Amino acid sequence: MKARLEEMPSRIEPARIDTLGGDLPDLVAEVAAKAERLGHSLHPKTAANLSDLVRLMNTYYSNLIEGHNTRPRDIERALAGARDEGQRDLQQEAVAHYRLQERIDRQAASGELPDPADPEFIRQLHRDFYAGASVEMLTIRSGDRSFTMQPGEWRSVAEQDVEVGRHLPPTSACVPAFMDYFHLRFAFDPAPGRVLQGVGKGKAKRLLATATAHHRFNWIHPFPDGNGRVSRLMSHAMAHASGIGAHGLWSISRGLARGLQPGLDGRGEYKQHMAWADEVRQGDRDGRGHLSLKGLELFTGWFLRVCIDQLTYMSDLFELDALSKRLDRHVALSETLPKESARLLQEALMRGEIDRGEAERITQMPERSARRVLKQLIDEGLLASDTPKGPVSLRFPSATLDTLFPRLYA
Ligand SMILES: Nc1ncnc2c1ncn2[C@@H]1O[C@H](COP(=O)(O)OP(=O)(O)O)[C@@H](O)[C@H]1O
Ligand SMILES: [Mg+2]
Repeated sequence: MKARLEEMPSRIEPARIDTLGGDLPDLVAEVAAKAERLGHSLHPKTAANLSDLVRLMNTYYSNLIEGHNTRPRDIERALAGARDEGQRDLQQEAVAHYRLQERIDRQAASGELPDPADPEFIRQLHRDFYAGASVEMLTIRSGDRSFTMQPGEWRSVAEQDVEVGRHLPPTSACVPAFMDYFHLRFAFDPAPGRVLQGVGKGKAKRLLATATAHHRFNWIHPFPDGNGRVSRLMSHAMAHASGIGAHGLWSISRGLARGLQPGLDGRGEYKQHMAWADEVRQGDRDGRGHLSLKGLELFTGWFLRVCIDQLTYMSDLFELDALSKRLDRHVALSETLPKESARLLQEALMRGEIDRGEAERITQMPERSARRVLKQLIDEGLLASDTPKGPVSLRFPSATLDTLFPRLYA
């Protein structure tokens, strides 16, 4: 059967921005440069532990965008295995989001990240995001009808048709064809012979495609639910694959949730820019595709500015001298920690990790007192080791966030 004209997958064109105009070239260059520098002054061990914090933050914001508000403290507890009455589902999805981002970060670090635009990769994200979901989480309701979503499966039958705000995504039956086309246009590693179609290796090309793929994916809305969360994980993977991942020291969700303007205005920017990019072509000077090129450029410019804003914020936060001062301040404000504990924290910051036996020398306290201070820092979660007796490194539990990382959370 021939697809109806309005259901042709090429309806997502323009999928990419091929001719850079306006301030896009400068924005691309700035994102690349800022990502390159982020976390450079940090010891790799400290950076790795900070990326845990970033992952938790991304999880928080990505779910918050969907109106699912789980406090950092409760996500942290959930990661440790707790499920609290009344928020099991929220904690479940937070853990799933966190673990998936962790996997992406690990794959990116070891060079094993699959092509983020590959439909198999995306379906796997969705499958794993919902792997431990309750029946309630998988029940999709619309009016008085409902159905159960299958994790990892595209929409396929008419009852799964969706609406997003004022946008009507393609009918369910067409989703596989749209996602094949999505892959064709957004493949970071196109199959030989298809190079002209896919994104290819260039950094600027990949960065721009990260932005436009985010919109076009959500425009297709291939799953009955979970598109937003899965798309933000896909974008996180694309950021890594574009070379702007900065070892997991920043992530896009905080910026998408907060926008550029302060407060409520900023929080509306994401959906507003997504909606503008849904518009069809407005006249002869708006590209040659079915959708508006201007709308896509507007979205892309906003997306890149959001990246720059987040990279700047995280760079300031993770700047070595500033972080060092905030550690001192944290100890000074603490009602429990003795002032000598600051020396241990500073040493861990500078050197990445310290042997437990060094506490005496570093604090210049008698052995027993030094060990007590060390234990206290471990009990408060500021220092921890990978093995029971192993060297300790800095950690950043949620109770320390107000003093160590102000404004990280809404
Ligand atoms: N006008 C729009 N056009 C395209 N995508 C949109 C629009 N408005 C919102 N979105 C996307 O849809 C997502 C919500 O889709 P949904 O399937 O419910 O995902 P989740 O369950 O993860 O929230 C938002 O996070 C956003 O990314
Ligand atoms: Mg939803």
